[in-house]
Amino acid sequence: MPELVVPTTAVHRSFLDAWDELDESEDRWMGAHAHSPDESWTRSQAADPAEFARMVAAIRRDAHPAAPMPPDIVHQTVLWWVDGDEWLGRLSIRHVLNRFLLEIGGHIGYVVRPSARRRGHATAMLAASLPVAAGLGIERALVTCDTDNVASRKVIQACGGVFEDQRDNKLRFWVPTT
Ligand SMILES: CC(C)(COP(=O)(O)OP(=O)(O)OC[C@H]1O[C@@H](n2cnc3c(N)ncnc32)[C@H](O)[C@@H]1OP(=O)(O)O)[C@@H](O)C(=O)NCCC(=O)NCCS
Repeated sequence: MPELVVPTTAVHRSFLDAWDELDESEDRWMGAHAHSPDESWTRSQAADPAEFARMVAAIRRDAHPAAPMPPDIVHQTVLWWVDGDEWLGRLSIRHVLNRFLLEIGGHIGYVVRPSARRRGHATAMLAASLPVAAGLGIERALVTCDTDNVASRKVIQACGGVFEDQRDNKLRFWVPTT
């Protein structure tokens, strides 16, 4: 059974395999970056076990309320959706909404690796994240998607998302967390 876990070195091989399924323009979907301090990892850097361990530690640090963040960046809890040692996707929960997140980004963002799509993972992953969001004090999570992202819209609505409005090309939904 897949589950949400904090980033772990245990899925190193599978994380790299998932990255190889993406086009270069989609690199950001792997979430190989951290903010405290600001640092990003390329696919080849992440292939090195020591660098991967450093990346995992850095991503986990971003959830810590005491971690210093750059201006306009809020703390976020990143969780990986894994089944055994298989990395299936990831999700991030931003602890508070700044102006950009309130308008466009929302509280929660998610990605499923291409080879695991259309099997219900995103829906299950978002549902599993809601108690975590509640534990962070988020009573209603703002989740947004592009107007043409049919899959993401279905994911949000399956998790109880209530449509508020469209801003730019984003549809904005509020998802109760309890
Ligand atoms: C959007 C995304 C997370 C969906 O992941 P997923 O695991 O395939 O989603 P699910 O399997 O839970 O599918 C949810 C619904 O969307 C539908 N769906 C999935 N992919 C679809 C597609 N390409 N076109 C149309 N519908 C699609 C599913 O059939 C399902 O519909 P149903 O509830 O009527 O059965 C995934 O496609 C992805 O990672 N995309 C790139 C990143 C992204 O867009 N993230 C969201 C940012 S808001």
